[in-house]
Amino acid sequence: MAAMKNIVILISGRGSNMEAVVRAAQAEQWPARIAAVISNKADAKGLEFAAAHGIPTAVVSNKDYPSREAFDAALQEVIDGFNPDLVVLAGFMRILTPGFVSHYENRMLNIHPSLLPLFPGLHTHEQALASGQATHGATVHFVTAELDHGPLVDQVSVPVLPGDTAEVLAARVLEQEWVMYPRAIRWFVEGRLRVEDGKVNIDRN
Ligand code: GAR
Repeated sequence: MAAMKNIVILISGRGSNMEAVVRAAQAEQWPARIAAVISNKADAKGLEFAAAHGIPTAVVSNKDYPSREAFDAALQEVIDGFNPDLVVLAGFMRILTPGFVSHYENRMLNIHPSLLPLFPGLHTHEQALASGQATHGATVHFVTAELDHGPLVDQVSVPVLPGDTAEVLAARVLEQEWVMYPRAIRWFVEGRLRVEDGKVNIDRN
């Protein structure tokens, strides 16, 4: 049997995607362990779920560092202490430095709540509503230096319905994120993802 892969998950808040990943890894018996859940915010809700499930947690507060570089260096040291094969950004609301990103090249995934390349950055649901999109969704991608622009692994779309508020639309998208993100991470764990020329090939056999 292949060696267990170590996954480190970074969160900033609620952590519902992290929770979906933890539950899928357990239920589907992935050849992987969630080695740690790390937050840049001490009061991130998701830390409680992780701790309750016996997963090591850590907080590296960006407020304790004078610069992005200093914070990312400290974060990297904590992450690497868990020997990750994969770093998973799950609602981790930080812009990352190029050095940090290149250290985890082809082994760091993010989920973003829009159909990239539409609406990188913040307030994606508001933007989708304001621009009159008929569909909206979420994207899983490898992380590269340019914010929300890495090679796409998977996307899911949902309809934008009459009367939608940003909250209602966000909830419709989130429910699909909980399906798509664990599936994509499982592909990684099973060695099915290859990045070639900035594109992701998925071995579906
Ligand atoms: C999710 O919708 C995720 O796609 C989004 O934040 C939410 C986190 O929810 N991520 C970003 O906006 C990244 N820039 P969660 O903490 O419950 O997983």
